[in-house]
Amino acid sequence: MPLVTIEKRSFGKTSDNVAVDQFILKNQKGMEVRIINYGGIITSWKVKDKNNVYKNIVLGYDSLAAYEVNSPYLGAIVGRYANRIAEGTFSIDGETYRLALNNGSNHLHGGIKGFDKVVWQAKEVIDETTASVVLRYRSSDIEEGYPGNLEVSVTYTLNNHDELCVAYAAETDKKTIVNLTQHSYFNLTADFNTSILNHDVVINADTFLPVDTTQIPTGEFRSVAGTPFDFRTPKSIGNEINSSDQQLAYGHGYDHCWVRNGKQQESSFIASAYEPTTGRFLEVFSDAPGIQFYTGNFLNAPHPDNKDNTYAARSGFCFETQEFPNAPNQQNFLPVLLHPGQQYETATTFKFYVK
Ligand code: GLA
Repeated sequence: MPLVTIEKRSFGKTSDNVAVDQFILKNQKGMEVRIINYGGIITSWKVKDKNNVYKNIVLGYDSLAAYEVNSPYLGAIVGRYANRIAEGTFSIDGETYRLALNNGSNHLHGGIKGFDKVVWQAKEVIDETTASVVLRYRSSDIEEGYPGNLEVSVTYTLNNHDELCVAYAAETDKKTIVNLTQHSYFNLTADFNTSILNHDVVINADTFLPVDTTQIPTGEFRSVAGTPFDFRTPKSIGNEINSSDQQLAYGHGYDHCWVRNGKQQESSFIASAYEPTTGRFLEVFSDAPGIQFYTGNFLNAPHPDNKDNTYAARSGFCFETQEFPNAPNQQNFLPVLLHPGQQYETATTFKFYVK
């Protein structure tokens, strides 16, 4: 009997009749992650609590139609450019590209049909200690307005240390911009009718990127010291989320990018969340320069179990490791340009414990 397993099942067909599969990755301890090749979505993630009870801790659905109809990126891979691009426009070598304005006056999360809404090729890889699903997608030149044919892969790997690694890679045949992330909404209570406000969060960042009224970064790197954005030591999400602060008002809560401390391109601890009633504890490690911490402020999605219920605001939070928002238009942000012949590579690991 192998230490880790993968089971493949049908997850139905898209509205345009493309078959979608679900991959059930299970480790020796009992952690189970379900991933579909539509949007690269994590549909469920069973994690133990302090009493050894395994429950799903991410918002999701059991049916493909539910994801197609109304999903605020639940559990999905987001791209080609996660987060916002001001006025949906950017230039490369004097050529201007125009993207969909799907978030007020801005472009958000790759556009109308971003990587969260496409069907990826999937391959299972298993050895004695790890179970992986390799997802591949070819985004064609000018798809959603972005230049260059982009070959993208996202590899999810579960091991016996209760870690799920998400490794991203991409290559282009024409200069383009890339920023990929994972958009799971966590609620470590496993009760999605409970808010996430009691989770204690740490974010390993001395600065964050303040935004304007349309949630585009102003370009400033602002110290978190003395602000509700200081999560350098554990603080419950609810502690200061309602304090009077212009940035919290602009985000309707936390919906900002923090700048990871530590060396660029070197993986380090970036964030954690602890839920005291269940003892579940999540740590995130990444080589990404930033993390969008989003407290589900705009959530209002159908609930899978009950037509009269919803996934309400603040019923899940996201730790979206990524490049800086609107970087293609911000001179003082790290560059996000991918050249032909270069490899875009980044990885984020989610590790669970009980305390
Ligand atoms: C990101 C954005 C939020 C919101 C969510 C999805 O976190 O910053 O404003 O769009 O994605 O709804």
